[in-house]
Amino acid sequence: MARVDHLIGGIYRISTYAPEKRISFNQFLIDDDEPALIHTGTFPLYADVRAAVAQVIDPSRLRYVIVPHFEADECGGMGRFVAEAPQSVLACSMIGARVNLQQWDYAGPIKGMQDGDMLHLGKHRLRFWETPHVHHWDSMMAVEETTASLFPSDLFIQPNDQPAIVRENLGTDMCEWYRAAGLFGGTDPVLRVVSRVERLAPAWVHPMHGGSMSADTLKGYTTALRTQPFAFDGRLFGRHLPDGA
Ligand SMILES: [Fe+2]
Ligand SMILES: [Fe+2]
Repeated sequence: MARVDHLIGGIYRISTYAPEKRISFNQFLIDDDEPALIHTGTFPLYADVRAAVAQVIDPSRLRYVIVPHFEADECGGMGRFVAEAPQSVLACSMIGARVNLQQWDYAGPIKGMQDGDMLHLGKHRLRFWETPHVHHWDSMMAVEETTASLFPSDLFIQPNDQPAIVRENLGTDMCEWYRAAGLFGGTDPVLRVVSRVERLAPAWVHPMHGGSMSADTLKGYTTALRTQPFAFDGRLFGRHLPDGA
């Protein structure tokens, strides 16, 4: 069963730990007049995530299903969440809409977000950043402005089972995990976004894998990304590719 925690100001974390992968999968529900779900979880996780959403709101009230990039853990439940909620719209980056969503077997409404675009949920406001190549071409992030919350998707990941609010500096573990998985093609696009995060100075960061963190805790993670190697080094989930690959 997914675990549900209220984090701050109507933002809920729905989290499922996968022991075999040593990582958690989080979705974030913003309870408002026009509720939003950020990440849907994988296709097999749908029933669990839906039941967790239903602990807070009726899933048929969802107004926005937000997919920061197209990978199964971010989008696997999108078709069913949108189908069940008559007012819902799937929001992804403009480039995600163009190169992925409009070319798939998806017939629901789509909103392609560009940098600076905003969704008003009622009390909450979500502003979007286009963050290409962190870690996909179509990647975007969202900032909820009333709580100064950043939703960075796969940036600031922490492996293993973490509490809803993480206070530990797991920056070294994060960088090692990124290198072993081969998640980021290069450092430049990531460090540009790290600088933008530092300028934003969010009060809260809600990574998709691991726990949410306050501004104080975040410093350990931004420092790790600036000082430790984290980019692709020839491995994919720990498997070494042949030399020259
Ligand atoms: Fe991802
Ligand atoms: Fe992810």
